[in-house]
Amino acid sequence: MVKVPPPFELATWIGAYDGKVEYNLGSSNVQIPIVEELLPLVPQAPTRGEGFAGSLVVRQRVGSLLGLPPDQVQLTAGASEANFIAYLCGVAAGQQVLVESPTYSPLESIAAALEQPLRRVPRDPAHDFALPLERVHAALDQGGIGKTGLVVLTNLNNPTGAAMGKVTLRALARLCADYRAHLFIDETFRWLDLAQTVPLVAACRDIHHPDGGCVAISSGSLSKVYNLGASRVGWLAADEPFLRLVRGVRETMNPVLSPLCEHLAAVALERHDRILDRTLSLVGKNRSVAQRWAATRSDLRWIPSNGITAFPEVTNPTVDVGELALQLVRDHSTLISPGSYFGFPRHFRIGLGGDPDRLGPGLERVGMVLDALGHG
Ligand SMILES: Cc1ncc(COP(=O)(O)O)c(C=O)c1O
Repeated sequence: MVKVPPPFELATWIGAYDGKVEYNLGSSNVQIPIVEELLPLVPQAPTRGEGFAGSLVVRQRVGSLLGLPPDQVQLTAGASEANFIAYLCGVAAGQQVLVESPTYSPLESIAAALEQPLRRVPRDPAHDFALPLERVHAALDQGGIGKTGLVVLTNLNNPTGAAMGKVTLRALARLCADYRAHLFIDETFRWLDLAQTVPLVAACRDIHHPDGGCVAISSGSLSKVYNLGASRVGWLAADEPFLRLVRGVRETMNPVLSPLCEHLAAVALERHDRILDRTLSLVGKNRSVAQRWAATRSDLRWIPSNGITAFPEVTNPTVDVGELALQLVRDHSTLISPGSYFGFPRHFRIGLGGDPDRLGPGLERVGMVLDALGHG
């Protein structure tokens, strides 16, 4: 049995308005149409699926981006499946999960569904939402050696866009190894980092879990950089023996992905540099627009973001951020994501992957409602 997890409120909120509002600043997607561009390049008669690990070509291409051989890459139905399986395989009975806060809420809900005790490790809003290592250390220590299965983060962080570099990743990996935990990082947004954060598993390949294999595990996906969420192609990157466990689970649960989607993924990955350049230039442009706008507001604290989402704080205490979001969709056809969905009700998330011609006018509308609410 699993327990019914808490509802995925962010997805419900975005799903209710996506495609219906004029100014969608709420979603974390890159809003560049790409399926249409790539579909004509997919072979008309795709072969059967290639077996339990997933298409070799796709694994080779993902592996080359991650600095790993293809046998350390397991294809999954999006990062979502990779994340679920990581919890299933990475947390034994009696072990806890440590999860950063704020985070992408399914990373908390999976533990709830599997009845795995969860402890949140807060990032630090005063320091651009960096994750203080001493907080992870303290949480591991409170559990005791062998009592934490996974330490779970997102890099880049969703919702804040905070990035974690190689030195911090390695320090965390060593800490996890000391406490017999795996370090599991969802890297769905990593490529969108203008500073090009390093891939986790390759950066930590010499740091071993006491039970064998690299202590680090990562998940990733074509959903964001490539805007190919519809392909449902993602991956889990890990070393033996963790990957053996993962393959065992997948063989019984979801043995092959759709070969059509694997072909689409292969075509996209072959064009990685071109697609990424286009995405990064869009995100860079939008980030400047948003920063310039935020600099004109005395009721906001802009928190630097490296990625496709930003998570500013509303500093005027008279403004209720939930009300701000409601009035924006209801009266101004503008969608933002309230920070309460991430456990930070004074913040809101905006996406930087949309149409640059709509971001400015959308932010103006956010400003108008902030003004109205701020003056009570
Ligand atoms: C951090 C993070 N991981 C995973 C996902 C879901 O990825 P996928 O579509 O590949 O299942 C999302 C979607 O927003 C996300 O933000």
